[in-house]
Amino acid sequence: MKEGLIEVRPVQPVAPWLGGKRALSRRIASRISQIPHTRYVEPFIGMGGVFFRRPEKPKLEVINDVNRDVVTLFRILQRHYQQFLDVLKFQLYSRADFERLRATPADQLTDLERAARFLYLQKTGFGGRNQHFGVEYERPRWSLSKLEPMLEAVHERLDNVLIECLDFGACIERYDSRPGAMFYCDPPYWGHTDDYGKDIFAPDDFVRLRDLLAGLNGHFILSLNDRPEVRDLFAEFTIEEVSLHYGAGGGQRPARELIITGQ
Ligand SMILES: C[S@@+](CC[C@H](N)C(=O)[O-])C[C@H]1O[C@@H](n2cnc3c(N)ncnc32)[C@H](O)[C@@H]1O
Repeated sequence: MKEGLIEVRPVQPVAPWLGGKRALSRRIASRISQIPHTRYVEPFIGMGGVFFRRPEKPKLEVINDVNRDVVTLFRILQRHYQQFLDVLKFQLYSRADFERLRATPADQLTDLERAARFLYLQKTGFGGRNQHFGVEYERPRWSLSKLEPMLEAVHERLDNVLIECLDFGACIERYDSRPGAMFYCDPPYWGHTDDYGKDIFAPDDFVRLRDLLAGLNGHFILSLNDRPEVRDLFAEFTIEEVSLHYGAGGGQRPARELIITGQ
């Protein structure tokens, strides 16, 4: 562990998220530990698959996502944890409730309700997407008694973490203005830029990201799917190929990811 980093207990993300970095998290976390930094910044936090599994932290941590549901959940977990549990206690585990919440526009809800709705849909939706109610035949997908210790661990881990809801470019520029930053960037995959909503991340944004990373004062680690276009665009940096398997049991799919580093 590098000087200036404080040991912390790794915790599990509270819900699945498309592109969540479970399989790569240990490898990336150990890279982060090797790089001296006083500020850790994740411009594309999602559910924090790497952030929460790191075994240490510097003095300042910043998490950011352009998705308001994601940011509201973290803000509520950080600052209104007890009230959040009170809201979740009234949440039924049923297909009808899933459909009702899915049909409710987020902007008609209070922040507490919005965070509860988002968490519920992520946990009970099939495959971590909220399109269809998912059923597992061995265990319930929604169990507050199982969830509560995870929520509490995340609540404690979020103590003093700065939570932003900015476009990634504004986030990187703001927190790189002094030396000492370490950015872990996990943008949408190449070829899947609409996965998190329309017009949130355009194919040209990979070029914008590359240019920002090339001019950084601080260090960065970027993870992306292994595509020839990605290798070309980020060719000026160090590129390492990693083979992984996604999915459970016999249905495992092989995949190749790239860990791109610079500075
Ligand atoms: C691959 S996911 C991150 C997954 C995360 N590492 C995890 O383990 O859960 C990419 C994230 O980038 C966010 N995002 C997409 N476009 C963005 C933008 N322009 N600025 C900031 N965040 C953005 C999405 O909302 C999504 O949460």
